[in-house]
Amino acid sequence: MNKTWWKEAVVYQIYWRSFFDTNGDGFGDLQGIIEKLDYVRSLGVDVIWLNPCYGSPDVDNGYDISDYRSVMAKAGTMQDFDRLLAEVHARGMKLIMDLVVNHTSDQHPWFQESRSSKDNPKRDYYIWRSEKNNWRSYFTPSTWELDDRTGEYYFHSFATEQPDLNWSNPRVREEIYNMMRFWLDKGIDGFRMDVINLLAKQAGFPDADNPDVISYLGNNPGIHEYLQEMHERVLVHYDVFTVGEIPFVSPEDGVLYVGEERSELNTLFHFEVCDYMAHWDIHRFKEIQKRWYDGMWGKGWNSQFLNNHDHTRLVTRFGNDAAYRVESAKCFATLLHTLPGMPYVYQGEEIGMTGVRFPSIDDYNDIAMKNKYQEEVAKGREPQEVFESLLHLARDNSRTPMQWDDTANAGFSKGQPWLKMNPNYRDINVKQALADPDSVFYYYQKLIRLRKENDVMIYGVYEPILDDDARIYAYYRTLGDLKWLVLLNISEEETLCRLPDAAAARLGETIIRNYPERIAEAADGLLLRPYEARIYQIN
Ligand code: GLC
Ligand code: CA
Repeated sequence: MNKTWWKEAVVYQIYWRSFFDTNGDGFGDLQGIIEKLDYVRSLGVDVIWLNPCYGSPDVDNGYDISDYRSVMAKAGTMQDFDRLLAEVHARGMKLIMDLVVNHTSDQHPWFQESRSSKDNPKRDYYIWRSEKNNWRSYFTPSTWELDDRTGEYYFHSFATEQPDLNWSNPRVREEIYNMMRFWLDKGIDGFRMDVINLLAKQAGFPDADNPDVISYLGNNPGIHEYLQEMHERVLVHYDVFTVGEIPFVSPEDGVLYVGEERSELNTLFHFEVCDYMAHWDIHRFKEIQKRWYDGMWGKGWNSQFLNNHDHTRLVTRFGNDAAYRVESAKCFATLLHTLPGMPYVYQGEEIGMTGVRFPSIDDYNDIAMKNKYQEEVAKGREPQEVFESLLHLARDNSRTPMQWDDTANAGFSKGQPWLKMNPNYRDINVKQALADPDSVFYYYQKLIRLRKENDVMIYGVYEPILDDDARIYAYYRTLGDLKWLVLLNISEEETLCRLPDAAAARLGETIIRNYPERIAEAADGLLLRPYEARIYQIN
C-alpha cells in the first residue's frame, strides 16, 4: 500500500457559523477561527475542513452559493480568508474547502440569466423541462419547480432555491474548473466535494417506481467522465487532497470513485451508517465495516465519521449522552481512530458535545427539518407528533454553537447567537475539558498522537474477531511484526469478554484505555465496564 500524507491525516471540521463569533453579530466568523487555531492545533489534527463560506443568501447555510469567488459577509472578508489560510499553514496544518457544484443559489447571476428567457445564452447552464417526472428532492416533494417567467420547470436535488447545474454543458464545467483554480491558486489544500456523485443526471428523467427512494439522484452514467476530466484539468496540477460526499454508494462503486488508478478522488464519505442506521446497531455496523474493508482495502481509501453538520452528535445518537457521556464519547473515539480510513472530528465532538431538544419548531433553523415539518403537517398529521418524530435526526442537533466556557452563550458570542445554545454548556465546555486531565479532549489528543507515532493504526490490516458478540466489538490491526487488539464494549452493561485462547495468552501492554486499570481481571476473561475501550499490544 503506498503511503501518502493524507492517509495519515486527521481532519477537524469547522462549521464556522457556530465556532466563534468575534464581532457580536451572533455568527461565528473566519476571524473567530483564527483566534481559536491554537486550540485546534493543540488537538493534533492535520487538516481543517471549512464548511462553505462563499457569497450566499444562506437558505441552506451556505450550500446555496450566489458568488463562488467571494466570502459571505457573515463570515468576514476575503482578507480574513487569506489570513486564515496563512495562519493555518503557519501552524503546519492544511485547509480544505467545501466545493458545492451540483447546484448554485437561485440568486446566482447564472441562474438569474438562465431563467430570464428560453434563448438566454445561459439557459443551458441549468436543467429546464416542459414536463416533470415523479422524483422527490432531498428537501421537497418534487425535484421540479415551475418558473412563471418561461413556463418551464427547473430541476433541483435540494431546496427550490438550489437549482442544479447542467454538467453536460461544457461551458458550465469550464466555469467550475476556473473557479476551483482560483481557490487552489490561493494555496488551499483541497476540497470536500458536496454530493459530488449527483452531478450526472439520468437521461430522460424516467419516473421512478418508488419515488421515495431517491437514489436515482446519484451515480448516473457520465459521472466518472466528469470527475476524471476535473482531475485532469484541475486537480492533477496541485498537491491536494479530495474527499467526495457520496450518498447511495456500495464499496464496489466506491472504488470507482477513489480507486488509486482511477484519477478521480482520493477518499469518500459513504452514508451507510449516518443515513441508514438511526440508532446504534452493532451487528449492522460490524457488517458495514467488514464489507467496506473487503471492498476497498488495497484499492482506495475510506473515511471514518459518526457525525458532522448534517448528523446528530454521536454521543446522543449512538452512545449515551447522560450517565455515560464521557465513557461513550471516548469509546466511539477509539473506534473512529482505529478503524481503517481517515478519522474526522466534528467541532465539539472532542469535548463530547451532545444533541439538543428545543421546545418548538420555531427554535429550529434547518431547512431540511422545517420543510419536512410543513410537508407532513400539510398532509393533516398532528403537528406535535410530526415535530417529535423529527427531533432525533434534526440537523440542528449538531449545529448549536461551540461551547467554550460557562459564561453567557458559552463564550461563543457577545450577541444573540443565530441558533440557540445547548443549555448544557455550563457543564460541557472547552474550559472545563482543558482543566480536567480525564476529559474527552485529552483522550482525543492522545489517540491522535498515538496515530502519529504508530503506523499500525493507519496501514495495519484489519481483522475482526468475536463477530457475533452483541456488545463487544473487537479487532486486530497488524502491520509487519506489530499487532494490536482493539477491544470495545459498546453497551451500557458490564460485559465479560472471552477472547480466543490465542489472543488471551498473548495480551501485552495496554496502549490506551478509557477507564482506570482493574486491580485484578476476572479469571475467565476480561470484564469490561460500560463503554470501556482498551487497546492491547499482542505479544
Ligand atoms: C450536503 C451538505 C448539506 C447540504 C446539502 C446540499 O449534503 O452536507 O449540509 O444541505 O449537501 O448542498
Ligand atoms: Ca460574527
